Order: sequence, then structure tokens, then C-alpha cells
Amino acid sequence: MPRKIILDCDPGHDDAIAILLAHGNPEIELLAVTTVVGNQTLPKVTRNALAVARIAGITDVPFAAGADRPLVRPLENAPDIHGESGMDGPVLPDPAIELDGRHAVDLIIDLVMSHEPGEITLVPTGGLTNIALAARKEPRIVDRVKEVVLMGGGYHVGNWSAVAEFNIKIDPEAAHIVFNESWPVVMVGLDLTHQALATPEVVEQIAAVGTAPARFVVELLEFFGTTYKDAQGFDSPPVHDPCAVAYVIDPSIVRTVKVPIDIELTGTLTLGMTVADFRHPAPDDCSTWAATDLDHARFWGLVTDALENIGQVEL
Ligand code: BDR
Ligand code: CA
Repeated sequence: MPRKIILDCDPGHDDAIAILLAHGNPEIELLAVTTVVGNQTLPKVTRNALAVARIAGITDVPFAAGADRPLVRPLENAPDIHGESGMDGPVLPDPAIELDGRHAVDLIIDLVMSHEPGEITLVPTGGLTNIALAARKEPRIVDRVKEVVLMGGGYHVGNWSAVAEFNIKIDPEAAHIVFNESWPVVMVGLDLTHQALATPEVVEQIAAVGTAPARFVVELLEFFGTTYKDAQGFDSPPVHDPCAVAYVIDPSIVRTVKVPIDIELTGTLTLGMTVADFRHPAPDDCSTWAATDLDHARFWGLVTDALENIGQVEL
């Protein structure tokens, strides 16, 4: 049985690759793609998501736009990493599908409430605004969602401050809601995603697929590689968001450890830190996990296979 997911994202170079991985992997049934402000403004990331749909040949999955600002904090985007469009680099085609008329939060609620409990996994790869709003608007979804496998946070390192990661830092109150609900939360954070480097060998492997969607990924990685080098000194870019999808496809690719995690909301230097308490074995009521180790070769193998499965898509 394929695993049913809702991908809530802010494309974003790595979000785009997460969409392609989810669409191209036979273990995943992509029920919806929802967008949230983050790497760029909501109209920009939504337009990018629809462009990815066209490039991947996705025609039968609802796409819906969600929150255009964080719950409390002023807007913060990431043009240094993702450019002015939010997905600079490749030329983006015009969308071929219409947005779903519903707000992303309502689409998430509708899908979770109309499926059996335990059927749907939420995969947020942007700020957690939509997911927090959905949990507040329809609290019954919390018991019905199988788990929340999110890209965000980290227990050892930050990228938007010394100790906070971008997706958590831009809406820490939303993250606080999501991490403190009783649903299982798997934090696929920077400790893990900094292992998902798109090395020159990886880029070559993807280029060898030889299709238009694979070329699009290569162009994304070229731009992402340059900004990650300039802004953060990486020799090869860490491709965060598809790691969360990879965990849903095959948890043996991403090792996790059960550990209590909470969100810092008041620290002057530590706002948005995902504080993981490794002092003791996790208590029985702990419902949070942190990702620790990635199988790099199998991860990139999944991405390459997904592109092979998508095949040639004519625009
Ligand atoms: C996260 O922030 C965004 O820029 C990326 O898309 C990823 O979701 C990494 O910190
Ligand atoms: Ca993202």
C-alpha cells in the first residue's frame, strides 16, 4: 500500500526536488501539495509549485495556497539562498493546472477528515504555519494524522542563527504548536540534511537520466550550489527537503532517535531553537524523534529512480 502524504512546502529549490521525489516514487501517493510563505512570498512559492507540477507532469493532484505570513512574527524570506523568484536558475514554464479553490488549511483538514485515522502523513518542508493553523482549526486531525515528518530544526547546529534553522525560526510559534501536539513528529533537521550533499558525482548521476525533469533538477542544483557556497561556505549544497520524503518512503535510509524536543520562544539569542533533551532515555509519553544519520547513496538513488520513473515530460 503506498503511503499517502500531503506535502506542505515553500518552493524553494529543495522543495521542488521533494515534490519530484514524492511524485516519482511508487511507495508514495501524493494527495495534495500545499504552499506556505517561506523561501519567498506566498504568490511566488505558489507559482513555483505550479511550475514544478508542469515540469513533473503532475495533473491530478490538488495544489492549494495557504498562509501568507507567520502567526506572530514579521515576514522573513531567503533570497540569498533561493533568489528573487524563490526558485532562481531554471526557466520556469507557465502553470498548466489551476489552483484548488480551498485555502491550504481547509484542504489539509478535508483530506485528513475524509481518510481513515492513521492513513495520512503530513510532510511539511517549509515554516509550520499551515500545519499549526490546521491543528487549531480542526483539532480532531491530530489523532487522525499518522505522523508529521518535517524538514526543520536540528539539535546541534542552526542556519538562520547560531542555533535556529530557517523553517522553525520564521514561525517559531507555529512550530511550538506542532511539536507540542500529541501526534508523532519526526524532525528531519540540519544534523541529517547537511549529510544530503549534492556532490559533483550526484549531479552527474542525475544528469545521466537525460530527461527534461532531470535537467531541471541539475539547473536547480547548480544555482543552489552557488548560493550555498557564497552564503554558507558549502562546497556542495545540502538538499534538505527531499530527506523528509525519503524517510516516509524508507525509514531505514534515515536513522532517528526518540528524544523530547521543544521550541524556544523567548531566547534573545536562541529564538526558534529546537531544544532536544538527550540527558535521559525518552519518557513513555515522548512523541518526538530527531533524525541523525543518512544513507547518502541510497537517498540519491531514490531521487534518481524517481526521475527515471517520471521519464520524459514534454512541455
Ligand atoms: C530549509 O529552509 C529552506 O530554505 C529550505 O527549502 C529548507 O526547507 C533549510 O533550512
Ligand atoms: Ca523548504
